[in-house]
Amino acid sequence: MKALVLCGGAGSRLRPITHTSAKQLVPVANKPVLFYGLESIAAAGVTETGIVVGDTAQEIRRAVGDGSAFGLEVTYLPQDAPLGLAHAVLIARDFLGDDDFVMYLGDNFIVGGISGLVDDFRTERPDARILLTHVPEPTAFGVAELDDTGRVVSLEEKPQVPRSDLALVGVYLFTPAVHEAVRSIQPSRRGELEITDAIQWLLDQGRDVRATTISGYWKDTGNVTDMLEVNRTVLETLEPRVEGDVDASSEIIGRVRIEAGAKVFRSRVVGPAVIGAGTVIADSCIGPFSSIAEDCRIEGSEIEYSIVLRRATVAGVSRIEESLIGHSVEVTPAPSTPAVHRLVLGDHSRVQIAS
Ligand code: TTP
Repeated sequence: MKALVLCGGAGSRLRPITHTSAKQLVPVANKPVLFYGLESIAAAGVTETGIVVGDTAQEIRRAVGDGSAFGLEVTYLPQDAPLGLAHAVLIARDFLGDDDFVMYLGDNFIVGGISGLVDDFRTERPDARILLTHVPEPTAFGVAELDDTGRVVSLEEKPQVPRSDLALVGVYLFTPAVHEAVRSIQPSRRGELEITDAIQWLLDQGRDVRATTISGYWKDTGNVTDMLEVNRTVLETLEPRVEGDVDASSEIIGRVRIEAGAKVFRSRVVGPAVIGAGTVIADSCIGPFSSIAEDCRIEGSEIEYSIVLRRATVAGVSRIEESLIGHSVEVTPAPSTPAVHRLVLGDHSRVQIAS
């Protein structure tokens, strides 16, 4: 059994963060979301892993290396353009050979891992197994229709009129039967080779496609709301640990991790929260549900339910909530109530200003 991890893609829903970095590397509790996936692949006893990469290939390679840190043997598979999940399978043909494989979307987050699923697949070996979960807004997902016995009847990508509320989760298990399927389908209206169409092709050929409906937690972290929600969930399981310096006038409350080399002065950190190495927090209130990455500077500010990426500065800002703040961003107040706003914002930035 091999693994195919998808880390190409455009990441348009996470712009502007994804203009400059891979969405699979956005940290959840200060660890790239992709790493949780790689860890669960290794825990499932799979070693040979192909990572499909696109424009952000260099950054992914730098972060994952040869995979040995995860107990994996990683092969990088460049995809010229994000032409769809089934296209990623198509270009991975040589790497996958005639092995069964688990396909894992690099920006998906599944609590509880995939070991049980992989074990079942090894034993049962249907042609494919998909994972489903009930969602409130199925129109944004690939949606499956099941019959009364729970067998998969049809699949549709982002349907306008969904036939159920069962969305496909970003983990799929395949036998080599999928290779003929991805070769046989045509690009969809949005120009992508859809994995849902490939699985539908298997169904149309009378192949055995089974579904597991998971009740556990799953999120596609492709958008900011889900990213913050995953961050909250992971922080709630964090082992509290204070290895950085905290001065006597600071208060640390609840499940808080302060990494070695971080410094906290005259501040209050309310858990669950994590403060990365090299970060300085002064005269501020952080948390709950906040991850501040490494080498940030937070001064005279309040931050709640947010993710702050490496080397960002937030100074003199009374309250930040539900925010994703990118690498090396500076957030500072205007000198007084401004008559004009002076802004340097990247493409696709979203800013709310009182005016
Ligand atoms: P998506 O979130 O479906 O697509 P995207 O990355 O283009 O994002 P957006 O919709 O915001 O523009 O992709 C799921 C995962 O699969 C993600 O980790 C990127 C990866 N992917 C590829 O590797 N190759 C592809 O051709 C596509 C479409 C996605």
